[in-house]
Amino acid sequence: MKNTAFLVTLLLGMTLMGCHREVQPLGVIPVPMKADMSAGTFKIAPYTPLWIEAEEADVAILKDALEQSPLQLIQVSLQPKIGGIALRVVDALPGIESAEGYVLEVTRKGVMLQALSGAGLYYGVQTMLQMLDSGNHLPYGTIVDEPRFEYRGVMLDVSRHFFDVDFVKKQIDAMARYKFNRLHLHLTDAAGWRIEIKQYPRLTDFAAWRTHALWKDWWAAERHYVDKGNDNAFGGYYTQEQIRHIVDYAQQHHITVIPEIEMPSHSEEVLAAYPELACSGEPYNGSDFCVGSEHTFTFLENVLLEVMELFPSEYIHIGGDEASKQAWKECPHCQARMKTEGLADVDELQSYLIRRIETFLNSHGRKLLGWDEILDGGLAPNATVMSWRGPEGGLRAMAMGHRAIMTPGEFCYFDAYQDAPHTQPEAFGGYLPLRKVYSYEPLPDTLDAQQAALLYGIQANLFAEYIPTEEHMEYMMYPRLLALAEVAWSQPELKCYDDFHARALKAVDRLRSEGYNTFDLRGEVGNRPGADTPVVHQAVGKRVSYVDGSAYYPGYSAGGDSALVDGIRGGWTYGDKRWQGFLGRKGVDVVIDLEEVRNISSVSADFMQICGPGVFMPASIIISVSDNGTDFVELHRIDNEVIRDDAVTFKTFGWDGTAQARYIRYQALRSTFGGFLFVDEVVVK
Ligand code: ACM
Ligand code: ZN
Repeated sequence: MKNTAFLVTLLLGMTLMGCHREVQPLGVIPVPMKADMSAGTFKIAPYTPLWIEAEEADVAILKDALEQSPLQLIQVSLQPKIGGIALRVVDALPGIESAEGYVLEVTRKGVMLQALSGAGLYYGVQTMLQMLDSGNHLPYGTIVDEPRFEYRGVMLDVSRHFFDVDFVKKQIDAMARYKFNRLHLHLTDAAGWRIEIKQYPRLTDFAAWRTHALWKDWWAAERHYVDKGNDNAFGGYYTQEQIRHIVDYAQQHHITVIPEIEMPSHSEEVLAAYPELACSGEPYNGSDFCVGSEHTFTFLENVLLEVMELFPSEYIHIGGDEASKQAWKECPHCQARMKTEGLADVDELQSYLIRRIETFLNSHGRKLLGWDEILDGGLAPNATVMSWRGPEGGLRAMAMGHRAIMTPGEFCYFDAYQDAPHTQPEAFGGYLPLRKVYSYEPLPDTLDAQQAALLYGIQANLFAEYIPTEEHMEYMMYPRLLALAEVAWSQPELKCYDDFHARALKAVDRLRSEGYNTFDLRGEVGNRPGADTPVVHQAVGKRVSYVDGSAYYPGYSAGGDSALVDGIRGGWTYGDKRWQGFLGRKGVDVVIDLEEVRNISSVSADFMQICGPGVFMPASIIISVSDNGTDFVELHRIDNEVIRDDAVTFKTFGWDGTAQARYIRYQALRSTFGGFLFVDEVVVK
């Protein structure tokens, strides 16, 4: 970034202001790179002259953006000397390198907004409109601003539940205000194909319609499709005309729409409509295209030709995630393909498909984008990786000289709960509050500048399995999207959660007044009680041994052998690295050594349950004590009836009384549901 003197000024400014200052005077999200404000304001009265010097198409976009605001400006053809608003594209701007950057100067003489492109002017206008909020006074000062990342995306899953054109346009309006510039549409998946393809009418006459309105009901049933027009057909799709309209509307907001066409998996709906594309040749038998069959390539290329015709985007997303690859192991066509192409395993077979599709896209002047599984079996030569299972895939791609877009589940999956689960509509799971989204730092400090330059940007993903309505989708998006906007655009040194939170409260009020159904940020409950303050008890820091056959699952170690006595309680999700997970048949069986015989008055531990991902309460608990570590006396036994339900629940299992002991044994047995047990701390008082 930029010159050192500037950075020093910036950091000094932050130190002087302190992170816990009152609401930032500008109130703008994402926070601009540099703002030098002074006393006084410029009043934008009705009929204030507006002068724009830019290409014709940009002038139209800028005029439209300003006309959507309450300002009543009057466009003039000569630059006003005083009292007007001037917008101008220039060849160079001190302090600005990005075509999306801008310099906004407000003085007694009026407003001068300059940028290197129409996009820059557009973002300057967004800043100006946010500074005005609902008033008409602009504070004097100079703002120099440009984005940290070039790619600032939002993914909407319109397959699991279909969202219509007006809804998508409404989200584009909000995205543009917060300076997002990519809309990734997850257009195809098992739950329904959502884009008209002229050459394959069964995709929208059949594969776009299913037997149940709610994904959850459909998933739990037989997962069948029905003909369009059937009384019980649920779903929908965008016609090509509607797609053109969305793409055009997005362009008017400096947003590129990236289509995602899933391959080789997540394609049950295609295979139901065109079973000859499956290894089995049958509908309802597998999720993956047959990679051995040339029919598959003919189909995919024909679909992509129509897709490329509709979407001018440089990138076409081809999915690539979560392929089963099982059928390929038995399929004679797939096996023959592996033999002739010299492919060692099914990962390489997937890579064969991705590479071939990449060559096809490249030959049409487009680039391939895919989920991080496209690394498996060898990355296609020019591919960009969207890293969702964590940052690792993206970092691996960058180390190989490829671009990456970071969208790790932990920070970017907005289908997770954003507050205490019992206060929220059912979600996919997890716990991703506003503060956590805001804390996301996509660039590890171990990368050098050359590698870091390959981090193309970040994206919020809204997978919609549990999001059936427009209101619910907006509820999951806002205000978390605003936090990610600041991660994507603003310099990390400028981030300050308290300041952001104050700005977000105002932004939420505004979004609500405009008809967006946001989460109630003012009513936020916050993390699980006790999760943010260490619990003090007798076993903290003592040695824990795992009795034969009981071992924690390496992916959920919560830090290892000391996790159950580290004084740290888990939060609302087992995924927060504070809950220790047990998948084995033996369940939890641990012995804590207090190092000397002590008086104890209680032993307890909390468990959590969320049935979707297979996390259950224990069926029984046994607490026992010993002086020598060998001969244990049972203090207490609890039988617990485990009930499968949709809720996320937490329960304490413990003993209270008086006893003396050096060793404490805590056992928790799994129920007949199997799955995981998750426990955060064994508290001994
Ligand atoms: C994904 O969440 N399967 C990309
Ligand atoms: Zn096959």
